[in-house]
Amino acid sequence: MCSLSNKRIILGVTGGIAAYKSAEVVRRLQDLGAEVRVVMTPGAEEFLRPLTMQALSGHPVHTGLLDEKAEAGMGHIELARWADLLLIAPASADFIANMVHGRADSLLAAIYLATPARVAIAPAMNQAMWSHSASVENINNLTHRGVTIIGPESGSQACGDIGPGRMEQPDSIIEQASNLFNSGVLQGKKVVITAGPTREALDPVRYISNHSSGKMGYALATAAIDAGADVTLISGPVALSIPERCRGILVMSAKEMQQAALGFTEGADIFIATAAVADYRATSIASEKIKSGDDKMTISLEKNPDIVSSVASTFKNLFVVGFAAESNDVETYAKGKLEQKHLDAIVANDISRTDIGFNSDDNEVSWIDTDSTIAFGKRSKAQLARDLVAQIAIKINPTHLD
Ligand code: C5P
Repeated sequence: MCSLSNKRIILGVTGGIAAYKSAEVVRRLQDLGAEVRVVMTPGAEEFLRPLTMQALSGHPVHTGLLDEKAEAGMGHIELARWADLLLIAPASADFIANMVHGRADSLLAAIYLATPARVAIAPAMNQAMWSHSASVENINNLTHRGVTIIGPESGSQACGDIGPGRMEQPDSIIEQASNLFNSGVLQGKKVVITAGPTREALDPVRYISNHSSGKMGYALATAAIDAGADVTLISGPVALSIPERCRGILVMSAKEMQQAALGFTEGADIFIATAAVADYRATSIASEKIKSGDDKMTISLEKNPDIVSSVASTFKNLFVVGFAAESNDVETYAKGKLEQKHLDAIVANDISRTDIGFNSDDNEVSWIDTDSTIAFGKRSKAQLARDLVAQIAIKINPTHLD
């Protein structure tokens, strides 16, 4: 079973006799190191007291969508964004149908719609309900959307029937949920990622930089760690913390970033350049603060090294992925950079759109390599990072297609 250390999990509990088993699920998630918040539907409260779950999880249980106090603390959108995994156990037939239809009539249903996290459900219902064509279609629909279905198991049911529909045992739920964080597709691979902006000093107090938040690079680092890789994240100044189980190298300027990249990429398998490297730096950095006074001033700039190109030409057996932020003719410019910089693939996005890209939590990109172009529609950077890691894994190991 994989560690869930530092993973944030929302355990959603819906109405059903199996709700009593979710108390054990909380315990087991915590044993593996996860931070757990519990969200219960009104139906769940008929079977299990929120107080029990509060005592077990060590946090107030979230129940109402229109609870002013709760929304002032961690509201449903914040909860949805906080989570790495939304695990719904038990998931009743009614709740599953609500998920399919995108209804937001309870706090848990609203979180399902708003979360960028992975979603897994452990259905629990009477065997005839489970076998009904409506349930079968609903489950197929959720599977197509990428929801992981855990169980159910077969056996004697609370109503006296025998058949499939019993919620999977807590141990098995935890095992399958924890496996979601470790696809293993980059097991044993060494990955180096550059992220964030660079900062080019002009004098002791001023610098040239850009608005890069580093979110995409950090999300890729997390996704690569979850895929089993050994990850080095070389980061310019950003407001994010280096993910756990990752070697973090903090740098300021493009020259420092290049030095770190060349130093840490020896023996690596994959290099991903998400950094928004400043194109130019001051020809010389003033040792004293530059005095203001004149109406005009001129700063002499010189070109920074192209980090990804230098890495691609230094290390031959390396799969190199670049990023291209373009405001027009996105694909044409991206293809040009793919060639000029000797990349194996480039991830292109359109920065003329304000709802994605720089500083946003979402992105919509195209993956372009020498034989294909794949569009990844708008999604969270966390989800996109997992999808890009899966795509890289396919490219470096084409037999991994199952
Ligand atoms: O800025 P540009 O569009 O050329 O960036 C494309 C790719 O090249 C990105 O992956 C970026 O991280 C990388 N790059 C770099 N060093 C630079 C400029 C860009 O590694 N000096």
